[in-house]
Amino acid sequence: MSKDLPIGFFDSGIGGLSMLAAAMKQLPNERFVYLGDSAHAPYGTKSDAQVRALTMDAVKQLTNRGIKALVVACNTATSAGINALRDAYQFPVIGIEPALKLAYDTHQDGLILVLATPLTVKSQKYRSLFEKYGQNAASLPSPGLMDFVEREELDSPALHRYLADLFAPYQDQVIDSVVLGCTHYLFLKDTITAHLPAGTRLLDSNDGVTRQLIKRLSEQGLLASPHQLAQIDIISTGSAEKEAQLRRMLKVAQSLF
Ligand code: DGL
Repeated sequence: MSKDLPIGFFDSGIGGLSMLAAAMKQLPNERFVYLGDSAHAPYGTKSDAQVRALTMDAVKQLTNRGIKALVVACNTATSAGINALRDAYQFPVIGIEPALKLAYDTHQDGLILVLATPLTVKSQKYRSLFEKYGQNAASLPSPGLMDFVEREELDSPALHRYLADLFAPYQDQVIDSVVLGCTHYLFLKDTITAHLPAGTRLLDSNDGVTRQLIKRLSEQGLLASPHQLAQIDIISTGSAEKEAQLRRMLKVAQSLF
């Protein structure tokens, strides 16, 4: 395995760009290749078997180009496909899960709300996580929320209506924190914050995933040399327009960190 190869990132669409932006900041000499499976998004309202098959296909496209490690920058694809990916590939495979443990470890007072796709919330992986760390938490499956991001509707009246409905049942409760359990939701950070009591913490898994990526690369001697020039390739399984959108949204993602 050559350390000159890129690190592959993969999501159903725009969401994983938020994780790519976080990793680029910490790893300025790496090459990255990002695949957005826009032709098959959204994943979160499909079945477990469908998402696993799509995940394997998408990752095959990345491995055909050559990668030294893979970041599954999608909670939904991780819950459906991480085991199959780890069985199939020898290189480091890093997944993402909602930051419920972080919320549990830092919990002060009130309810932890976990926003995630319906498939993530239904998955065995999430159910085990919830059993361990969900004492003070409620899961909010959010079908359709990622689509606002795909449409670049980051602050629209329809999005505000969606969020008002989503949080309405918790209006009279003390909210400790909100876990952004889908990589798309990072792009909605400010709009989500506007619907929560002042000071509510929004938690994501980006730092943990980047730390894990660096650890695995360095353990295997795969970190790029400090002289290597950064390079970012972005590909989409969808239209040329979708690919151009991914490039544009990477800039938005970079402004989040
Ligand atoms: N960004 C993805 C996640 O983190 C899923 C969005 C979707 O395709 O439904 O779960």
